[in-house]
Amino acid sequence: MSTNHNFFAPFADDDRADAAEKVTGRAKFTAEHALPNLAYGLFVCSTIAKGTVTKINESDALKAPGVLDVISFQNCPAVPGYSPAKGAFEWSGLKTLYDNKVRFYGQPVALVVADSFENATAALNLVKVTYEKEAHETDFEKNRKIETALKPAGNYKRGTEKAYKTAPVFIEAEYKTPIEVHSPMEMHATIAIWDGDDKLTVYDKTQGPKSTQGTLAKTFNIPQKNVRVITEYVGGAFGNGLRSWLHVPAACIAAKKLNRPVKVLLTRPQMFSLVGYRPQSWQKIGIGADKTGKFIGISHSAISNTSRYEDFREGIVDVSKFLYACDNVDTDYKMLPLDLSTPTWMRGPGEVTGCYALESAIDELSYQLKMDPIELRIKNFTDINPENKLPWSAKNLLDCYETGKTKIGWKNRSAQPGKIKENGWLIGYGMGGGVFGAGKGAASVRLLLKEDGSIVLQSAVSDMGPGTSTSMVKVAAETMQMPIYKIKFSLGDSDYPPGPSQGGSGTTSTLGSAVNLVCETLKQALKELAIQQVPAFKNLTVADIDIKNETLFSTKESNAKVGIVELMKLSGKPLIEITKDSGGATPEMRKYAINSFSVHFVKVRVHAKTGEVQLQHVVTTGDAGKIISENTARSQMLGGVVGGIGMALKEELTINHETGEIANASLGTYHLPLHTDIPQIDVWFVNKPDPIVNSIGAKGVGEISLIGFAAAVTNAVYNATGKRVRDLPITAEKLGFKKV
Ligand code: MOS
Repeated sequence: MSTNHNFFAPFADDDRADAAEKVTGRAKFTAEHALPNLAYGLFVCSTIAKGTVTKINESDALKAPGVLDVISFQNCPAVPGYSPAKGAFEWSGLKTLYDNKVRFYGQPVALVVADSFENATAALNLVKVTYEKEAHETDFEKNRKIETALKPAGNYKRGTEKAYKTAPVFIEAEYKTPIEVHSPMEMHATIAIWDGDDKLTVYDKTQGPKSTQGTLAKTFNIPQKNVRVITEYVGGAFGNGLRSWLHVPAACIAAKKLNRPVKVLLTRPQMFSLVGYRPQSWQKIGIGADKTGKFIGISHSAISNTSRYEDFREGIVDVSKFLYACDNVDTDYKMLPLDLSTPTWMRGPGEVTGCYALESAIDELSYQLKMDPIELRIKNFTDINPENKLPWSAKNLLDCYETGKTKIGWKNRSAQPGKIKENGWLIGYGMGGGVFGAGKGAASVRLLLKEDGSIVLQSAVSDMGPGTSTSMVKVAAETMQMPIYKIKFSLGDSDYPPGPSQGGSGTTSTLGSAVNLVCETLKQALKELAIQQVPAFKNLTVADIDIKNETLFSTKESNAKVGIVELMKLSGKPLIEITKDSGGATPEMRKYAINSFSVHFVKVRVHAKTGEVQLQHVVTTGDAGKIISENTARSQMLGGVVGGIGMALKEELTINHETGEIANASLGTYHLPLHTDIPQIDVWFVNKPDPIVNSIGAKGVGEISLIGFAAAVTNAVYNATGKRVRDLPITAEKLGFKKV
């Protein structure tokens, strides 16, 4: 890092803009904000999965040191959004501290508020809760087979239904995935501060400061401009920061009731049930082809769980409708409500689950056809999206296949499974692909050009980790043709111009377009200013002027030249301020199918005696338009691979169905990949601008990095062993080895 200048974060071109803040610990995450007179709130959670709270006895807790209040349905003040007038905004989902119903094990039933975190923690067990229990159902496997327990969530058909059954070669298989949990390093927290009755400031871990602001304004029935949401740094989220969960209103309720700032923190175990999860799934795929490998039919059914009190559905079967050319496709999707908390979006929501099954099934079909699985995919490649019949704006999957194949050493793969053995390990190669929607939403960015020539950009977004400031600074630097160290991107405050929630791999495209637009607008304004203010520019038009290295100059035969700082001085402007909105999708965009694509390649070894699976090499390729920031885009792909290794080999939330309690709600018992599980990972991008999606040619990589990865692993394990695991995660026992 270079430190020899006085502008923003001292960083080299490929460093993260916030690296210094993060590694020095100066960066403050939500729960770290200290405020005078702060009180601490912690949830008392139910110890039954379904029923009624008959009584909460808080008297012992209230006598404990430092305890200020125990808030529950017995004494919770009225919240406008909890019991609204007809037609008015109503809080969606569970209304915490509102009623005496218990809907899942671990549901908050009371909030203990004390003068310190320690005193709040100590008092939790002193709150005596009495219940009336009802019978609960948490067992997905048992209940998914009961047709009447299922809720239809959409179906689709083109061509002939179940056409795969008429194909000369077909496979039919069922795939299962367990509940997976986001498990970000930073736990959720909210600090609420009221200033009078209608002014609220919250520090909140959220992927969308504007969305949280809107939700709270409506919930407490106060003007949106009176709610300020601050989210300077987020330590990972993966989707669980996309909505306001129960602790967010709870903090606001407590702060209002006690008339002092209140911080509500979730504990690590609560992170497993109170901020969503990827739902459990069952899928069935039938896929058939003619002898040359051309797909004749794809049928894809799925069931995933939801809670009893909210419907959560995601696009599990959607990929099968359009990723490959096929005339006959039918899908069917159902939800299974259980006595659990509501699932939510988790990195690659829907597609991760669906592509695991689809990309596994295609691999299975390739062995039936005795065809290379990459060849089989190329055989069914299409430039036209077969679902909406639109041409893809850009699709460079063939380059991904080609490059990945070479880099992983695909030529060393045996077409026959279980054939390569080295030093007691079976070696296998596998691949799988992913796709995710790409588009452009609306975002506003404010630009401030200061008299020293530095630029500050502001938008009310948050950055859960991908490096939003870094990539936005790069977009601005490229547009302005000026050094990155003179540009700063400020985020994490709802008072800034409205920006999108960070989700759906959309930030770079949406926000990047707005940054590009506001910088282009500034360039135009500077050129006009030069024509007005600088004699040498007087006879030029805007089209004759270019800007590079903080200098305006004539592109014609002329010596006209003026620095931006000098121009500001000449015009007597201490500051130029511009705000621009990128707008959403354009009519041109609607003529195309726009997606990001990925293909993952994996080399595994499986121990021939113990069944231990180790990844040896990963090559992950992404087709996401122009790559704005190599470093952070690469990191996104690495993170997706680590998540994919977790999904394939490790992660599984287990529930004790007797009680409905999560049995492994800790990082010690919910297994995530360890450093030793991560092999060499090569990341490769097509890196060609998408000509349609936006003005910067960039699409997202956050989700495609994970989508399809688990299938690449199971396919490689099959190639190594000849054993097909259709029930994640892969374990030695599922491969037929005895537990050691
Ligand atoms: Mo993501 S599931 O778009 O945070």
